[in-house]
Amino acid sequence: MTSVATASTLEGLVQVGPRDGLGEVTVVSGGRHGIAVFKPAGSDEIYAVDNRCPHLGFPLHRGSVCDGILTCHWHHARFDLRSGGTFDQFADDVQTYEVIVRDDIIYVDPRPRRNDRVEHAQARLRDGLEQSISLVLAKNVLALLEAGAPAAGILEIGGRFGARYRESGWRSGLTILTAMGNVLPSLGPDDRMLALYHGLVHVARDSAGQPPRHPLDPLPNAAIPASRLKTWFRQFIEVRDSDGAERVLLTAIEQGASPADLADLLASAATDHAFLDGGHTLDFVNKACELLDLIGCRHAATILPSLTPVIARSTRSEELNSWRRPVDLVALLDPAFNRVDSLFANAGGNPDWRAPDELVATLLGDDPTAIVAALTAALETGAPPVAVSQALVYAAALRVAHFHTSNEFSDWITVLHTFTYLNATHQLMRRAPSAELLRGVYHGAMSLYLDRFLNVPPARLPEQRQAALDALPAGADDLLAHLDDTLDREQQVELAGQLTWRYLALGHDPNPLIAALGHLLLREDGEFHSYQMFEAGVALHRELAPVAPERANRVLVAVARYLAGHAPTSRAMLQTARTARRLARGEDLFDAID
Ligand code: FES
Repeated sequence: MTSVATASTLEGLVQVGPRDGLGEVTVVSGGRHGIAVFKPAGSDEIYAVDNRCPHLGFPLHRGSVCDGILTCHWHHARFDLRSGGTFDQFADDVQTYEVIVRDDIIYVDPRPRRNDRVEHAQARLRDGLEQSISLVLAKNVLALLEAGAPAAGILEIGGRFGARYRESGWRSGLTILTAMGNVLPSLGPDDRMLALYHGLVHVARDSAGQPPRHPLDPLPNAAIPASRLKTWFRQFIEVRDSDGAERVLLTAIEQGASPADLADLLASAATDHAFLDGGHTLDFVNKACELLDLIGCRHAATILPSLTPVIARSTRSEELNSWRRPVDLVALLDPAFNRVDSLFANAGGNPDWRAPDELVATLLGDDPTAIVAALTAALETGAPPVAVSQALVYAAALRVAHFHTSNEFSDWITVLHTFTYLNATHQLMRRAPSAELLRGVYHGAMSLYLDRFLNVPPARLPEQRQAALDALPAGADDLLAHLDDTLDREQQVELAGQLTWRYLALGHDPNPLIAALGHLLLREDGEFHSYQMFEAGVALHRELAPVAPERANRVLVAVARYLAGHAPTSRAMLQTARTARRLARGEDLFDAID
């Protein structure tokens, strides 16, 4: 908009020209992309805006002005010429510049009026979540990272949004966001942006069209023993009373319960019944705890209540025929559960215990009675519960590594569910070990048993195919390039596993391989379970590598096989992210103009 200048303000200004001769639009150099100066017909006002549409960069001097509204002609985004504010949320507010008149000469001050880069990008990130617009999310994740904003701040915005704006609670989007937050240090620099962007896109999709949650309050003036709160919480979940459970949870938070105490409260209720919702519920509990690790426990009262409707409404696997017939797996566990307190209390006498191969073979076998007996015997002979939970998650990874592609495609998800459930029990056991959670370990073992026919026949591990391995390149870069090409083609499951095994067996640094697998995940339009597989696999690999490197390598074989089984996709998300990057670099996307 126009103002009258004093002499001292002219320094650094860009001269546009005499007022009288000014056309309806003039372009001058300045700013990052040139400045479009508009003098709408029939108006004395003059306006200056960035000559680049904030949506995809169309030159705005080619737009049209009517009633003070500038319309970009590529996707028809509209802007208030005076303020630069957009009426179309898929675009963004356009930068405006001050117009100055002195002695009837028009000048523009090329210094942007808006200098709140981080605050603006954060606000636009929230807009992108509310409107579920991928490009807005990609552009503003990029803007925040380039401005040096910490990833934790981005995770906080996404986490708080997802927990608040979905009445039915935590879902896959928040799990993906957290999983991607966990793996950020393992990814290449460009893929860190992609990881955050993927997480936010899925959070936004989960909340789109959903009613928001209306948060409850903690009990007033409460000073209730933690043990009573835990009892109440489990009672309310037992009768599927989400609101009652939420008030108890909020009271525990208000009373200063530690992160471990909160994890124990939630995990206890989530293991009072078997394998809730195909394993997802306990995984969500674990991921919510991990999200607080990433963004700070001060957000507990916002994040954790999103779990109570999920835990309360979950399908309990004892309600499923597969858990009751032909073998009643619930009844089979009763003897161990009847003495689970003493089992837990007396376990751990041998802190160096490692699961022998025979135990892993039993866990993958077809005798549920033998599986339960083997677990109980391990605990009774000194195995720490956390070592037992680790043995089970490793066995579940082997299930994926041995998954035969003659199964139904959807069966990938069945073995994945058991793996991620057991990863959750293991991570929770590391965080907040308890007798109640130990039941979850047994439940996971029963799910592993139920999956046994998905390894019939078992796919051979790469290490059992030496001739095929010998035919592959030996150099690290060659192997990674080969892996990249391999996942450009459908169903290259065995080759992906072989390349991964060969890379690791030759002693190459696993970190570039993990980063490459992360890239192969993030270049696709990933489905929920692929993110879970990668994140849990990387966590288990890192845990096993120092003590059991061959086992650690088999875990990454499982990851590579799973990703190969789900690639390639149409890569629409990658296209959007690339567009955001090109715009951030100032590239012209609309080359045909001018
Ligand atoms: S609306 Fe302007 S580039 Fe799309």
